[in-house]
Amino acid sequence: MANIPLMAWLVAGICFILSLGGLSQHETARRGNVLGIIGISLAIIAALFQIESIDAAVAVLLIMAIGIGALIGSVLAKRVEMTAMPQLVAILHSFVGLAAVLVGLSVYLWPIGHIVIDGDGGTIVHHEMIQKIEIVLGVFIGGLTFTGSIIAWGKLDGKVDSKPLLLPGRHFLNLVMLLSCAGISIWFIQIESVWLGLVPLLLVMVISFIFGIHMVMAIGGADMPVVVSMLNSYSGWAAAATGFMLPNDLLIVTGALVGSSGAILSYIMCHAMNRSFISVIAGGFGTGTGSAASKGDAQELSYTSIDAAGAADVLAEASEVIVIPGYGMAVAQAQHPILEITELLKKRGCRTRFAIHPVAGRLPGHMNVLLAEARVPYDIVLEMDEINEDFPETDVVLVIGANDIVNPGALDDPASPIYGMPVLEAWKARQVIVLKRSMGTGYSGVDNPLFYEENTDMLFGDAKKSVDDILHSLRG
Ligand code: TAP
Repeated sequence: MANIPLMAWLVAGICFILSLGGLSQHETARRGNVLGIIGISLAIIAALFQIESIDAAVAVLLIMAIGIGALIGSVLAKRVEMTAMPQLVAILHSFVGLAAVLVGLSVYLWPIGHIVIDGDGGTIVHHEMIQKIEIVLGVFIGGLTFTGSIIAWGKLDGKVDSKPLLLPGRHFLNLVMLLSCAGISIWFIQIESVWLGLVPLLLVMVISFIFGIHMVMAIGGADMPVVVSMLNSYSGWAAAATGFMLPNDLLIVTGALVGSSGAILSYIMCHAMNRSFISVIAGGFGTGTGSAASKGDAQELSYTSIDAAGAADVLAEASEVIVIPGYGMAVAQAQHPILEITELLKKRGCRTRFAIHPVAGRLPGHMNVLLAEARVPYDIVLEMDEINEDFPETDVVLVIGANDIVNPGALDDPASPIYGMPVLEAWKARQVIVLKRSMGTGYSGVDNPLFYEENTDMLFGDAKKSVDDILHSLRG
């Protein structure tokens, strides 16, 4: 009987691993989510069964807390717009960080026996030093995840200026904060009095709060996606530290899964933007507003525009079309009529495919989710590496609300802040039609020379309206 919660945790851990596996493919993402829900439900039930004696009032409080949390979570998740999803993810990471800090403080004030396997085959002894290391680590990682995630939320939501804050000597400041935390932690571990020990622990907490704020404030512009996934990773490590403190094996396993998958995702995203992880953490990227030359030139350059009927005529004559969706498609919710256009073109013998940039939109997989929601078949949705070589043989490229991800300056303008980021090479196609509302810049604030190319036509207006109008003309 005593092993039932352990078995349940084992099954929950397997569910989490299978869930991560499922989430890596569109076709299996739904199954991955269901497995995650089953895993976490099992884990909560098993944790409740593990409590040996609990008085009724505490049990009611616990159930109320779970109920209220579940209610707030589901209402928030249901209400949130797809475009505001990164903000939601960021603020949820902050809760994990805060939980790690609070668990750290309470485990310190009300210690729990710590499991240490001794040479004779495992007896449970309370090992104070190990527990103190876990507590101080949990408080430190949790603290910086908490405030860092709040700043990331503020930047993504436009409540905090997205430009990097570059204080003089900021790297030195970070180093001083790190070293002081290390020194104060050693002091904390050596103090015997509980109340005196609270002083260094609270000091580490305050410094980690400041460290989190300073670290994320220094990161700006186009690096925000990496920051969110990096904080995801930190929240995992904070959860793992909490697992060590409690001690709870499943929390350690789950935290390690979140921590390592977040770190891998950060690496993949850095790779997609041709940035090194260290340069992202060091911050400062996105300070420039684009190459002065390209901005200046842009004002003198001219562009051509086209109307929806004209775009429909161009599409009607094409036999190879690539659609590049970007953040504007998400804002306008233009994915549904786009599917109808691709079906109509297919009936006329034209091959239409979608090209997805790894950081299109505002969260990893943003475009894939929207296209899946519109039931676009997976086999016509291709990743950048799979389709980038096909542009020269393409008749028409339809850029829908995308900007930075099709900016040729990322390849040939060393002064551009996004220089080095691989992009979809739309300009190599015979004709490019860009659907957006103005000549305005995208997320990184850089002007886009693609809009002034001879083979590019601008179709101004809300992307949903423009796509609807093209569809109307094509049917017409
Ligand atoms: P952006 O470069 O941000 O460009 C989006 C374009 O959509 C804007 O230029 C805007 O132009 C247009 N737009 C906005 N609303 C529209 C509407 N209703 N109808 C038509 N057009 C509309 O987007 P992107 O090309 O997808 O690139 C993504 C950028 O976001 C990258 O810089 C990336 O680093 C960053 N980022 C990515 C993520 C992740 S994880 N994907 C997270 C955070 C940041 P107008 O105003 O002229 O319409």
